[in-house]
Amino acid sequence: MTKQPAKVTVPGNILLDTLRLNQGKWVSGEALAKRLSMTRSAVWKKIGILKEEGYGIESLPRRGYRLLAIPDLMLIQEIRDGLLTSVLGKADIYRYVSTDSTNSRAKELAARGASEGVLVIAEEQAEGRGRLDRPWFSPGGENIYASLVMRPSLPPQTASRMVLLVAVAAAEALIDVTGLQATVKWPNDILVGGRKIGGILLEMAVEMDAIDYVVVGLGINVNSAAERFPEEIRRKTTSILMETGKPFSRVLLLCRFLEFLEDGYNTFRESGFESILTRWKALTDMVGKQASIRTINGLYNGVIVDMDHNGFLILRDNQGGEMRLFSGDITIM
Ligand code: BTN
Repeated sequence: MTKQPAKVTVPGNILLDTLRLNQGKWVSGEALAKRLSMTRSAVWKKIGILKEEGYGIESLPRRGYRLLAIPDLMLIQEIRDGLLTSVLGKADIYRYVSTDSTNSRAKELAARGASEGVLVIAEEQAEGRGRLDRPWFSPGGENIYASLVMRPSLPPQTASRMVLLVAVAAAEALIDVTGLQATVKWPNDILVGGRKIGGILLEMAVEMDAIDYVVVGLGINVNSAAERFPEEIRRKTTSILMETGKPFSRVLLLCRFLEFLEDGYNTFRESGFESILTRWKALTDMVGKQASIRTINGLYNGVIVDMDHNGFLILRDNQGGEMRLFSGDITIM
């Protein structure tokens, strides 16, 4: 069910910062009202909003308020406070406790003119989507489901570059935060130990001959235990919890991902795609392998030779002919 999202446009939150600094201690309503230059009843209303978001705040007459716990939720203010980017995640952030798909929400926003960097997150997706409209396992409160509006000045036929760029950022953030040996698998998978830990769903709108917007959807299995996954994907899927034996902060991982992505995006725009491609190749072990690839045009078998500068996979068939593939379902032999 999609309820109204929480949305924060103003960076920083003095009220929350004050409570955080005094975590576990009482702060009087009067002191907070003074600090925020507002009435005590306005403070009380703001506290109500924080409580609704999931912050554990106790209130008592004559004592005031005290922050007992910051819950393990993808809270907007926690993301804002942990994020070292200039654009991505710095525009509006929309947070849903539950929605059908964050990509659908982000596409609606982008179609209405949302600027680059607008972010949609959800604790749970009722109809999380993967490539080819496959369902994406999206239980509440365990994993990352995030969609970002981007507006790259690129011709549509080079959009694959964006997928590779996002895959590199996701894998590098995973390695940085968890120390796991994440790899990338064309076109849009993030793997650990050969099992899928994350996926990217890129959806775009084109106007004339240019990309109008791209919605970058990222799903990462963070804190789901093995038995939570549906039987039919359990063998091929993993999570950070399963790999490391401990839970990780989704907020931290999301922030690092956005930072790696912004950094890569700037490099791409300022110096071209070459270095992203080099980083992608360093993160994959697909090159040189025999593969079978199903595309909308048919089934292709051959050896993976390389990735070209537009993000197309180069496959050499058994007759020595080479083809460039934009997307497909790949089985490595
Ligand atoms: C895939 O591997 O097929 C892509 C999976 C992408 C899943 C993410 S979760 C956030 C965003 N919202 C969706 O409905 N899908 C993407």
